[in-house]
Formats: sequence, C-alpha cells, structure tokens
Amino acid sequence: MRSLLTLADLEVADVAEIFERTARLKGYLARESRPPLLSGRVLALVFEKPSLRTRVSFEAGMASLGGGSIFLGPEAGFGKRESVSDFARVLSQYVDIISARVFHHATVEELGRHATCPVVNGLSDAAHPCQALADFFSLREVFGELEGKKLAYVGDGNNVARSLAMGCGLLGMTFAFAAPEGYQLDEPFLRQLAADYPALRVELSQDPRQVVKDASAVYTDVWASMGQEEEAAQRKQVFAPFQVNADLMKHAPSDAVFLHCLPAHRGEEVTDEVIDGQRSIVLQQAANRMHVQKGIVTWLLKTAIT
Ligand code: CP
Ligand code: NVA
Repeated sequence: MRSLLTLADLEVADVAEIFERTARLKGYLARESRPPLLSGRVLALVFEKPSLRTRVSFEAGMASLGGGSIFLGPEAGFGKRESVSDFARVLSQYVDIISARVFHHATVEELGRHATCPVVNGLSDAAHPCQALADFFSLREVFGELEGKKLAYVGDGNNVARSLAMGCGLLGMTFAFAAPEGYQLDEPFLRQLAADYPALRVELSQDPRQVVKDASAVYTDVWASMGQEEEAAQRKQVFAPFQVNADLMKHAPSDAVFLHCLPAHRGEEVTDEVIDGQRSIVLQQAANRMHVQKGIVTWLLKTAIT
C-alpha cells in the first residue's frame, strides 16, 4: 500500500503513470463520459485549514467517478478529541483513502503511519504534492516535453515552492528560486533535494529579474501562508520587491507562462494585469487539480481505467 505525502514518495515512472491516468480521465469528462470506476469507494477529507480547490476538486472528482466523499473539518477533533493514531485506525476501517490538510507535516506522517488505507497530503506546512503535480501536468499541456525547461519561483520558500523544486527534480527541469534573505528554502531541505535528485539544477538568487531570465514558467504564491497570518504585515514589506508584475514579466521570455496555486492576494505577490493576462494559466492549473487527483486516487487504489 502506498501513500503520497510528498513527491519523494514517487519515482519518475509513477508520475508518468499518474499523468497517463489523468489524461485519460480528463478526456472522458471532456466527452461527457463519467464511468463509475470508483463505484462504492469512499474518500475521507480530514482538513485542519480552509480550502476551496483541494476540497471541492477531490469531492467532485470522486463523485464524477461514481465514488463518495466525507468531509471532516476541525470540529471532528482530529488530534484533539482523540489521538491522530486512534483517529487514523478507526477512520481507515470505514473509507478506502484519506486526504488530509494539516498545519504540521508530522501530523500527516503520523496519519500515514497508522492508517490502513492510502493517505494523500492535501497540503501541510512542508509540502503540497497534489498542487505541484497539477502544475506540471498543466505545463506539459502547454509545452509538451518539460525536460531541460526552467521553472522560476519568486516568493516565499514555502510548501508549494518545496514541492515544485522536487517536481523539477523528478521531471528534469531546472528550478530557479528568488526570495528575500530569511525566506529562502532552508539548508536541510536543499541538502535533501540534492541527495534525492543529484541531476537537478537549482539556481538560488535574491534577484527576481535574474531567475525569470530564460524561464518557461514564472510561479508565485502568497507571502504569508495559512497559519502565518500574524506575520502578514511584516512580510508584505519584506517581499514587496518580489512582486510578479508586468515589469518583471518583461525580463522573462515572451512565451513564458505565469502560474499561481491560488488563492492569490492580488496587488501583493501578483498584480491583476499578470494574473489576468494572456500568459496566465492559473485557471488551467485549478481545473487540473481535479483531473490529476483522479489520476492519483485511481493510481493509489490500483483502479483499472477501462
Ligand atoms: N491551491 C489550493 O490548494 O487551494 P485551496 O487552499 O483552496 O485548496
Ligand atoms: N502556501 C499556501 C498555499 C495555499 C494553497 C498556504 O500554505 O497557505
């Protein structure tokens, strides 16, 4: 039994299989075909934080394949009313698969250790693997082969940045990263990244103009993630020179696309003209969350796609 807690859980061939499943399932829906491949299967969503995309794309994805889903928000008392281990061992007797959104990555790891069904990380402070897979699937739709292309991330060294860096390692892309001092990817993470993906090219800078040069994709995310709300005002000042705006996009190649995992804080990390501009693929990314997660769920449950 496998789980998906970070992209380190996947080999290159696994990503290829998930993308192959995703493409087929996306094709079915485009033709208005909803085969009940997950009939009788149930997904539980255990969420400590708010969500639009992750929750709804998982639930709608299960429904469109004939399966069911049960949402358990903070009132379920996960880790509070009872221990994570008891919660995991009981819940996984009722459902086939669990998606969890947690504050601390250690919590989803503990859930994964005790659950007797696959667990998918729907975002933790350390990783957002479903997001990154949907992003690379979207980039593949735009560019075809991704090997050798460069993804430039401008902003906080957060969960999304980490998963994108690992995805670049899996897919043979260069990962270029610009953040203010103090908000870089941390050293232990960078050491592990180099160990896991020895061929990965990483470019680190404090100059956004430098990293977007030669990039096929320019990516940003919020400056203060969920759980960091009290730091938001201070971060707004530190990150101001790292805004992705029309001026910065001029330093990227003319065919470079703009990505954001959403939700966006318009006027902070990105301006309206960029996020709503012709080079923005943010809605394609959001749409692909559902298709890719259907690929992930059917892959983890070993569902044959007929
Ligand atoms: N991108 C993303 O995970 O969005 P939600 O927080 O709305 O799920
Ligand atoms: N880095 C953001 C991503 C939201 C999808 C957060 O953790 O809040």
